[in-house]
Order: sequence, then C-alpha cells, then structure tokens
Amino acid sequence: MPEKKVQDLFSLKGKIAIVTGAVGLIGKYHCKALNEAGATVIVCDLNKKDVVKFASTLKYNSLGIELNVTDKKSITGLRDYLLKKFGRIDILVNNAAINDMFENPESAIEQSKFENYPVELWQKSLDVNITGMFLCSQILGSVMAKQKSGSIINIASTYGIVAPNQSLYKDEKGKQTFYKSPAYPVTKGAVISFTKFLAAYWSKNGVRVNALSPGGVENSQKNFFIKNYSGKTPLGRMAQPFDYKGAIVFLASEASSYMTGTNLVVDGGFTIW
Ligand SMILES: NC(=O)c1ccc[n+]([C@@H]2O[C@H](COP(=O)([O-])OP(=O)(O)OC[C@H]3O[C@@H](n4cnc5c(N)ncnc54)[C@H](O)[C@@H]3O)[C@@H](O)[C@H]2O)c1
Repeated sequence: MPEKKVQDLFSLKGKIAIVTGAVGLIGKYHCKALNEAGATVIVCDLNKKDVVKFASTLKYNSLGIELNVTDKKSITGLRDYLLKKFGRIDILVNNAAINDMFENPESAIEQSKFENYPVELWQKSLDVNITGMFLCSQILGSVMAKQKSGSIINIASTYGIVAPNQSLYKDEKGKQTFYKSPAYPVTKGAVISFTKFLAAYWSKNGVRVNALSPGGVENSQKNFFIKNYSGKTPLGRMAQPFDYKGAIVFLASEASSYMTGTNLVVDGGFTIW
C-alpha cells in the first residue's frame, strides 16, 4: 500500500456509511463526523420521521431509512435498497442499543436489584445489543466481505470492560437510587468478543472490524451522578456526545488500516484505575 498524506488517510469521500441507532444521543454525532469526513451517511433508526428529518441536515445525498436491527427483513430490505442505489456499502456503525433505565424513582431501587431484575428486560437488551449487531453485521457486512473492503465499528462501552461501580448511583446522602442492570455490561462485553470473532473471520476479506468503547456522556443526569462519575474519571468530567467524532472517523477510515479486532477506549481514563 503506498504512503498517503494524513488528510487523505482520514478522508471518507465517496464512502457509503450506515449508522444504526443514528438519531440517539451519540448516534447523531457519529453521523455528523462521518459526513464531515466526506461520507454519504445512511441514518438508520426506528422512527422514520426522525431519520428523514435528521438526514436532511447532512450533506452528500445522505438518507434517512427506518430500520429495526432485530428484524431480519428490515435489514435485508435496507441492504437491497442500498445495493440498488449505490452498489456498495463501505462502513457500518453498529450503534443501536438499549440501556435500560428505571423511570420511577419510587420502584427503581427494588426493580433494578439483580435479585429482582426481570428476565424480559434481560432478553430485550440481548436482542437489540447483541442479536441486532450480529444480524446487521451478517447481512450488511457480507456485502463488504464480497466486495473485499469495508470497516465495521461496533459500539461497546466502558461497562464491557469493567463492572458497573454501583456506588456511582448513590445520592448526596449516600442512598442508593438504583442499581445498574446486569444486561447492559454483559451485552457490551459480548460486543467486544464478537468484534474479535468477526475481525478474525473476515481478515482475508478486507473487512476490518473494531469496537469503540465510549465512557459516560453527560445528558441531564442528576447532579450527584455527574459529580460521582467525574470524580472517578481521571480527566475529571463526563463526555460530551461529540467526544467520539475523531475516534469514529479514525476507525472508519484508512487512518486505521492496520487495526482490526481492537477495542478503542475513549473514556477520559475511567477504566485505567
Ligand atoms: N450515552 C452513554 O453514556 C454511552 C456510554 C457508553 C456507550 N454508549 C453506547 O453508545 C451507543 C449509543 O448510545 P446513546 O447514548 O446515543 O443511546 P440512545 O438511547 O440515545 O440511542 C440509541 C438509539 O438506538 C435506537 N434503537 C433502539 N432499539 C433499536 C432497534 N431495535 N433498531 C434500531 N434502532 C434502535 C433508539 O431508537 C435510539 O435512537 C449505544 O451502543 C450505547 O450502549 C453510550
């Protein structure tokens, strides 16, 4: 491979990039980052109106397409549409996920205890966070394997690396407000091992597969939580949703052409101690 200038290594000009869960908190910034680097972005999420609206803010003929990552038909429909329209798929960001929250503060503490955690919630997270990533990689990634090029980025989490520290969820008075569920960290751990499996499997097909593990993003959480989390983070703050733009473009582009099967951790240092 000949040497390239840095600007060219990071360029995604002419690339077709799919982002799932694309209109969520971080997904929008994955889309913006890929688009700013030159890619045509296929903005995919559950709500049609939302994806169309957000895609209209992007350049290079980006499109919004309704997609349910747990539904094989929905994904094959997307694949067929994109192959007809563009003839290729270059980048897939498996970003859609469920991070279950307990809305009612009165019952949250009891419901979120491991001893009581409902198997239905466990199953739902497994379906979206693991099976959804598996199906999208299988159906959309197979196009890349066939064309002998592509980059798949699976969004994991710091909680795929370290266990949730339940003390983060204690309020100013030391009262536990809820417990982080077992489903989320388990599914994020699986994202990292699936990434290694697929990187090895498609290594001869020119498809690179890497994980990105973000740290916690500030998003109107209670003050005590922001304080607790920031205190446990070497860089002293929670992330902003746009803190992952550089990492996404790096993993999607030729700038990371000698990387596969890795887990890029962008967490303000949260997992180093
Ligand atoms: N927010 C954080 O602090 C944080 C930290 C680490 C990792 N992450 C990871 O980053 C990714 C994005 O997180 P976020 O905070 O933006 O979440 P979010 O809840 O704001 O967005 C997730 C999106 O996924 C979509 N989605 C859910 N089920 C789907 C399905 N079946 N098919 C298609 N789309 C579906 C939702 O509609 C939503 O728009 C997730 O993988 C999450 O685990 C987030």
